[in-house]
Amino acid sequence: MAAFHLTVNGVARTVEASDPNQPLLYALRNALNLKGAKFGCGLGQCGACTVIIDGEAVRSCQTPLSSVGDRAVTTLEGLGSPENPHRVQAAFIEEQAAQCGYCANGMIMTSAALLARKAKPDEAEIREALAANLCRCGTHDRIVHAVLRAAGRA
Ligand code: FES
Ligand code: FES
Repeated sequence: MAAFHLTVNGVARTVEASDPNQPLLYALRNALNLKGAKFGCGLGQCGACTVIIDGEAVRSCQTPLSSVGDRAVTTLEGLGSPENPHRVQAAFIEEQAAQCGYCANGMIMTSAALLARKAKPDEAEIREALAANLCRCGTHDRIVHAVLRAAGRA
């Protein structure tokens, strides 16, 4: 077992793991009980597991625990709270931008990273940013509308 020191949602955390290649997703969900990021494909293809690392939307199923180091990890739980949601989280609620909701973590985290680097993306930029995030329920139009709302464009 080795100890991996992480900074998650602004808090120093330690995860014990025997495999340094263990996906960050497993450490977040199983060791740290942060269930916002979801296991979808486990292959980097769906985006359900997205977290933000140093401002960049990253697929945590493809991120070895040992590669994270001292970079800042933000999960859905750290983005906002029920009392004080991030503007993307609030917009998803206002637009009811989910059916099953399984993709919502990845859609929200990817959109939050987009808005952090560009405050008012247009619809084409939002669609491009979310193009590799899959939604099996076909909620894309509501999701895009929610991100437009969060960007102050709807
Ligand atoms: S679970 Fe990570 S991309 Fe699908
Ligand atoms: S709302 Fe079900 S996968 Fe997107």
